[in-house]
Amino acid sequence: MKRAPGGLAPIVAVGRRAGTPLHRQLYAGYRDAILDGRLEAGQRLPSTRALAGELGISRMPVVLAFEQLLAEGYIESRVGSGSFVSPGLAAPPPARSPGGTRRLPPPPLPIASSEPWLAGSGPFRIIQPAVDARLARTWATLLARRARLSSMRQMMYGDPMGLPSLREALADYLRTARSVRCTPDQLMIVSGSQQALALSARTLLAPGDAAWMEEPGFSGARDALALAGARVISVPVDADGLDVGAGISRAPSVRAAYVTPSHQYPLGTIMTAQRRLQLLEWARRAGAWILEDDYDSEYRYDNQPIASLQGLDPDRRVIYIGTFSKVLFPALRVGYLVIPHDLVPRFRRVREALDNSPAPLYQAVLADFLRDGHFARHLRRMRAVYAERRAVLVRALAAAGLRVSGDRAGMHVVLELPRGTRDRELATRAAQHGLWVAPLSACYTGRSRSGLLLGYGSARVQDIPDAVRRLVTLL
Ligand SMILES: Cc1ncc(COP(=O)(O)O)c(C=O)c1O
Repeated sequence: MKRAPGGLAPIVAVGRRAGTPLHRQLYAGYRDAILDGRLEAGQRLPSTRALAGELGISRMPVVLAFEQLLAEGYIESRVGSGSFVSPGLAAPPPARSPGGTRRLPPPPLPIASSEPWLAGSGPFRIIQPAVDARLARTWATLLARRARLSSMRQMMYGDPMGLPSLREALADYLRTARSVRCTPDQLMIVSGSQQALALSARTLLAPGDAAWMEEPGFSGARDALALAGARVISVPVDADGLDVGAGISRAPSVRAAYVTPSHQYPLGTIMTAQRRLQLLEWARRAGAWILEDDYDSEYRYDNQPIASLQGLDPDRRVIYIGTFSKVLFPALRVGYLVIPHDLVPRFRRVREALDNSPAPLYQAVLADFLRDGHFARHLRRMRAVYAERRAVLVRALAAAGLRVSGDRAGMHVVLELPRGTRDRELATRAAQHGLWVAPLSACYTGRSRSGLLLGYGSARVQDIPDAVRRLVTLL
């Protein structure tokens, strides 16, 4: 059997011993490809000479097949340019199941419209970091150097756990700066913390298992749990962080709990030491796993960084998740998990079933970025940049009589509004005026509070006073 060439030609099998003349085989193959939509109206066909050459047959059967297709109106020929699929030959409707309708499983996720406050970029766009020329320059230099050095290894499949040099550099950083207890063999590099959450949920939960989720909370985490078939139990967050007592009274024995203890998303609360110990103690008794999402706590403004929850856990029940989306840039798509030793083989197996690892080239550049001291310098510089932006924002809001909360870390603050204020409508109107404020109520699944999340990561100092003035006018 021979196959027609790829590119603009469909795969049409022809063979000399098929009992049907070659030109009939080719004719039937092309007619079917046109009718079922593999070849679209207006699409160019290969020349008879090229096709015959590719198939290793004489030109005559190809010419005969094309003449037949032409005669029946499937294709048309344009002088000097070749043969094209005729317009107006619609593909038949897709096959239907016996019931007459296409059967799809019910979606485990709500179908959300794309929210207007996420559509643009500029003042107050939540969780959008500053990407400055200096970072872009350094990144480009390191990337060019690595690309020139590109070895065969970088062109092969990588280790599903991630590039060893990056895992070593990252383990050093996490032990020192985040008090994470880890060795490189526990680290898995993934395409962002969203993938880390989805992977954790699929590895640790069976459909129907229950999991605690912060309320209000990060919808991406809720979605990851739901996609794994989990029963998501909302547990309120108060001034001390996740209310463990409330969780226990709602559902004491669940398989997992999702938390953002270093800077709760979205409220900005920092989980107290007492709550951390209470949560760890509950997890030990319940045999539950804790998913610690540490997404932006490198930026803290009032004191030293708070240690990770994982570092306090003697029982190895915490899966620590981090990302470079906020500390470098989101398009990098690199995040990581620190996995308890005994779970590493399971995570690795699930990972292999889903994908392999982010591009080794980018991982190598990131390892250079960490190793050569660029990351530490970048963090120092950005801490100062964000501290200034935050101070200017808080001052401008205070001058307008508005107080914010959750501003001790990260890159956003919460502006609470009187209960009942329609924050979604406000956010939609703000987006029409080029201000990307996210409504607090969108982070709740039940009874919600009203407010606006104001990101200052990408708001330039000189733009903040005017942006606040425009916001106050809308309020
Ligand atoms: C709390 C939190 N966790 C995780 C993520 C996912 O980040 P990424 O997948 O870009 O690493 C985000 C993104 O905004 C977030 O806000």
